[in-house]
Amino acid sequence: MIKIKDLKKSFNGKRVLDGVNLEIDKGKITVIIGRSGEGKSVLIKHIIGLLKPDSGQVLLEGEDLTKLDESEWNKTRRRFGMLFQGAALFDSMTVAGNVGFPLREHTNLDYKDILETVKDKLKRVGLVGVENMMPADLSGGMKKRVGLARAIIMDPEIVLFDEPTTGLDPIMSDSIADLMLDTQEQLKTTYIAITHDILLTYKIADKIAMLHNGKIIEEGGSKDIKETKNPVVRQFIEGNAEGPIRVY
Ligand SMILES: Nc1ncnc2c1ncn2[C@@H]1O[C@H](COP(=O)(O)OP(=O)(O)OP(=O)(O)O)[C@@H](O)[C@H]1O
Ligand SMILES: [Mg+2]
Repeated sequence: MIKIKDLKKSFNGKRVLDGVNLEIDKGKITVIIGRSGEGKSVLIKHIIGLLKPDSGQVLLEGEDLTKLDESEWNKTRRRFGMLFQGAALFDSMTVAGNVGFPLREHTNLDYKDILETVKDKLKRVGLVGVENMMPADLSGGMKKRVGLARAIIMDPEIVLFDEPTTGLDPIMSDSIADLMLDTQEQLKTTYIAITHDILLTYKIADKIAMLHNGKIIEEGGSKDIKETKNPVVRQFIEGNAEGPIRVY
């Protein structure tokens, strides 16, 4: 569905993406792994047009998204949902206000229909009766769930997840993984997640791709990655301070 071709991006002379090539399959879950600071968030921001590359392409069903202008993006962006790193809820809005925000911005639905859709999506992520709560009063796991409900509120074809489990306890992380699998299965959506949570990765991924030094250095199914002979990938999945990646 999406083809990333030789994508390059530097900030202040420092190259972050150095020729990323990756194919995202329709209706599947692709997980991009990599160390902190490798450029995972930068990569995902190119997919939804929040950043423009120095060179290279992001093809969505053959159309180069890097060439779209702002008004074209406003149409195309509706095909995407996004769960930002840290959930990025609006602090001054209730849960219902946050989850319903894309519907208020992009549709003519009235208040009653919006609230109904919001409640339905919140129920799907296991939250009932929280519509009037403020983000500050939610736990980390609840925030991620609210963020997920907002990401899928428009029934997007593609949902991007930036660190869906970071900062959550292992049990909550596992329940977020289940939710991702459930919602993906129900709607047959294309999911792209970036994470350094290796348990989450193995649980949800149809395809795993590792970003290192600005390139995808390995990709494959969970089994391929678990059996990889690439010492850099091995070091990452085993969480080993010793190896080709230097910590300092
Ligand atoms: N808008 C920007 N301007 C300048 N530098 C940036 C910008 N966005 C990202 N960077 C730099 O790009 C590099 C990669 O950042 P990015 O946030 O993509 O890492 P990451 O892989 O998502 O890390 P983490 O796992 O910690 O979230 C960092 O060195 C960061 O400082
Ligand atoms: Mg990041």
